[in-house]
Amino acid sequence: MKSALVLGAGGFIGGHLVKHLKKEGFWVRGVDLKFHEHAETHADDFVIGDLREQDFCRSVIDRGFDEVYQLAADMGGAGYIFTGEHDADIMHNSATINLNVADIAHKRNIKRTFYSSSACMYPAYNQEDPDNPNCREESAYPAAPDSEYGWEKLFSERLFLAYNRNYGLNNRVARYHNIFGPEGTWDGGKEKAPAAICRKVAKVTSGDAIEIWGDGLQTRSFLYVDECVEGTLRLTRSDFEGPVNIGSEEMVTINQLVDIVADIAGKKIEKNHIPGPTGVRGRNSENSLIQEKLGWAPSQTLRAGLEKTYEWIEWQVRRNAA
Ligand code: NAD
Ligand code: GDD
Repeated sequence: MKSALVLGAGGFIGGHLVKHLKKEGFWVRGVDLKFHEHAETHADDFVIGDLREQDFCRSVIDRGFDEVYQLAADMGGAGYIFTGEHDADIMHNSATINLNVADIAHKRNIKRTFYSSSACMYPAYNQEDPDNPNCREESAYPAAPDSEYGWEKLFSERLFLAYNRNYGLNNRVARYHNIFGPEGTWDGGKEKAPAAICRKVAKVTSGDAIEIWGDGLQTRSFLYVDECVEGTLRLTRSDFEGPVNIGSEEMVTINQLVDIVADIAGKKIEKNHIPGPTGVRGRNSENSLIQEKLGWAPSQTLRAGLEKTYEWIEWQVRRNAA
């Protein structure tokens, strides 16, 4: 039986990845600081601990794992990474985890590892035009991410690639573009726009207004979590080390995102634009490289993913209210 280790298994994408690996018949160990808040784990073994601690890291990365997925990070949406208040923690916590994992995975001769980078590492200067952002993989340099979160991701993807070159680690790097879906953070300050908008729409009655940060004309693309997991598994098992975008090419303004969610909810929603952390003006995935290297790219519509996500968040809102 094949075995996999998922670091960050108590989080959103890690939780979905564990489920998928179990469906494939893997024996799975999950590791996190905490249990998953929104779902029972499907992992065979779930270890609570801090991956910043080298000894703990050594104790969970056993020699025999066929695949190790490194998703543990100090992360959140615009309300967490763009305020500047968490910069030192984000850089220290995530970099320490990655330094530990890369080194121990190499010393334990792990056959295949995966690291989740982010589109936040792309230079801000290529994301000023909301209609024409450039997020092609080769546009990463000269580096100029707009957040410390992005700088840490850039450092860590380089770290894993250096271990590949110098020590023969077999790591794969993906740059995720805003992943969304059920069982993700939807409240509390770390939630991203799709979950925040679903929550706000679910909480009001038709005809009411919800608050939107900025003028709503900033653009993004959002990828449904099932396709993120599929891309992650395809990349990890491929011969291509990356970095490669895993994201949707269906770019929308935040105002359009609100309109789609309102339509799914069957509510008329007014928009109250307020100042807030907005990040880059435009961002979209560019999928030529993943298509070329893996012969695959995400294809689901944003609306299809939002229908499932809204249903889940609406249920959370009702449950919490009760
Ligand atoms: P998440 O916050 O839901 O999951 C990350 C998990 O890491 C959390 O459960 C957290 O408790 C755990 N963790 C943090 N510090 C830890 C530590 N010291 N020891 C053990 N566990 C620790 O985030 P996610 O959305 O599932 O993202 C997974 C990965 O993908 C992260 O590396 C993130 O930066 C990256 N990513 C996500 C997105 C997105 O839109 N969700 C976009 C780009 C990149
Ligand atoms: N979170 C949130 N909440 N964002 C809102 C809101 C709101 O209520 N209203 C408007 N927005 C706007 C933000 O200001 C931002 O311009 C846009 O929606 C997208 O915000 P997020 O989804 O929070 O983050 P992001 O796309 O800027 O960055 C995310 O994606 C990266 C990968 O592409 C983050 O999750 C990063 O951690 C991730 O790496």
